[in-house]
Amino acid sequence: MFPMNQPFQINAGDGLRLELLMPDEAPRVFAEIDRSRAHLREWLPWVDAAVNARQTRAHLRESIEGFARGQGFSLGLFEGDVFMGMIGFHAFDMANRLTSVGYWLGEAYGGRGRMTRAVIAACDYAFKERGINRVTIRCATGNLRSRAIPERLGFVHEGCQREAEWLYGQPVDLEIYAILAREWAVRKAFQPGQG
Ligand SMILES: CC(C)(COP(=O)(O)OP(=O)(O)OC[C@H]1O[C@@H](n2cnc3c(N)ncnc32)[C@H](O)[C@@H]1OP(=O)(O)O)[C@@H](O)C(=O)NCCC(=O)NCCS
Repeated sequence: MFPMNQPFQINAGDGLRLELLMPDEAPRVFAEIDRSRAHLREWLPWVDAAVNARQTRAHLRESIEGFARGQGFSLGLFEGDVFMGMIGFHAFDMANRLTSVGYWLGEAYGGRGRMTRAVIAACDYAFKERGINRVTIRCATGNLRSRAIPERLGFVHEGCQREAEWLYGQPVDLEIYAILAREWAVRKAFQPGQG
């Protein structure tokens, strides 16, 4: 459904780009997960199960297939040749024009607004290129750094799903943030410098 003859990239500004990763990138993606394991594990339920680059390769293959079929996919964050983390669309529900976004950054790369810019670029893509009407981000209640991203970008806090995620032996509540295409357009008109 989508062309695969050239690398798919989204420019997020200031030298940051989002790129569909090929399976042979698996070793360095896994190396970053491994380096940042304690940091990522606090909020991501899949980290303990990520034990080798072979699994990462399988995940990247699924992502490429998802992209090719018009379904969900993940993109790597890069500055130059440096891989920093990932952002992904969980799915595209085109009947209802919905998508949701998830993300992680290697521990060394936080605190500089990179993921905020990546989310701006991902939302621009979803609204402009994919005809999406609503983008959702769900964050654990205690994950204040993650929650700060949709809050910074003007997403509406719609509520809390109680015990909606199982995180290493205990449930956590998830805060739901969403923004609509028309709200994004207004936001862009008033903050043209951002993204
Ligand atoms: C969630 C996560 C990606 C947030 O990372 P982050 O570095 O806080 O987010 P950003 O890259 O957008 O950077 C924002 C920070 O940079 C600062 N910043 C600097 N320049 C900035 C700019 N131009 N724009 C926005 N923020 C900027 C912000 O003030 C903020 O720092 P602060 O928290 O000290 O105030 C990261 O903590 C992470 O990977 N956590 C583990 C995985 C996870 O929780 N994933 C989300 C699951 S829902």
